[in-house]
Amino acid sequence: MDQNSKMMIFCLFLAALSSPVFAGEWKANVVKSLDTLVSSCVVVPCSFTHPKGNLPTSRLRGIWHRSNDRNQRIYFEDQTQVLENFRGRTRLLGHLGQSNCTLEIMDVKDHDNGPYCFRIEQALTETKTDDKFSFVEDCVKFTMLPVPLKPALTHPKTATQDLPYTVTCSVTHTCPSHVPKLTWSKAAPDAVNEVHREIHPGNWEAQSILTFIPGEKDDHTEIKCTAQFNGGKTSFTTLTLYVKRTENYNHIIIPTVAAIGTAVIFAVFCILMAKKYKTRIAELQNQEGSVWNQISRLSRRSRISRQSPALYCSAERHPECVVYFSTIKEK
Ligand SMILES: *[C@@H]1O[C@H](CO)[C@@H](O)[C@H](O)[C@H]1NC(C)=O
Repeated sequence: MDQNSKMMIFCLFLAALSSPVFAGEWKANVVKSLDTLVSSCVVVPCSFTHPKGNLPTSRLRGIWHRSNDRNQRIYFEDQTQVLENFRGRTRLLGHLGQSNCTLEIMDVKDHDNGPYCFRIEQALTETKTDDKFSFVEDCVKFTMLPVPLKPALTHPKTATQDLPYTVTCSVTHTCPSHVPKLTWSKAAPDAVNEVHREIHPGNWEAQSILTFIPGEKDDHTEIKCTAQFNGGKTSFTTLTLYVKRTENYNHIIIPTVAAIGTAVIFAVFCILMAKKYKTRIAELQNQEGSVWNQISRLSRRSRISRQSPALYCSAERHPECVVYFSTIKEK
């Protein structure tokens, strides 16, 4: 064994002996700051580690106190040792036995801004506490929001008639134990899906995804998403829906067909009428022609043989013929 190795072993031995001094090996991990809605709740994520690993919850005492005074407790098992204006409003959501010191504060007041620090004590017996350690360096402070944030709406710019349309409403918050409720003004949607996720430690996002099939009558209507936060505060955002009609030429096709149909019927009617009159005129012309033909034929014959006109004419049918023959006779 060389000098160096001996030195190292000696150092390790010293370190092992002095370990109680390094009780600072307790480590806490507290979210540094959170935006908090007044009147709502806030959940502060917190965890800690102990060199001896997980210890039974019964032997651990978790305390949350004001940063400037460890006796001004905002959370402790024994309610009587908690500051009066925090009594009944704070609880540990985490189990100390699982190294989880997550704190919930209900009904946040605008002067609750902190900072607040976590401290843990390990009890050896019921009365004696040992290994006390305060993590004063790991504290949280709040930025108070007197009015809630408005939900954000994300959606395609225009909807198309008869095609599913999706609008997402999302709101961030720091109260995951009492998630804000998101509601829609749209009656009878096809689907509403909810998503709740932690976007970064202590900050959560609640989402509601609305899906529906827009009709023609939905054009220029408003859709409203309302967020109701723990404690009763609400905020909302609206959007105006623009519905693109699906390609539909009925408004052009129907009048065109009607106009063409009328024109065709009218044309056919005209042609038939014209035809009818043409034949009638031709008939009349033929009739006239035949009369004069007969007359001229008769006159030629009568010059050759002066026979009785009664053989050629019938007075009832052609009076002019009779007159003609009577003049011939007289000569
Ligand atoms: C601590 O407890 C809270 C509340 O039960 C839980 O949401 C969180 O996930 C826990 N954290 C860890 C690191 O287990």
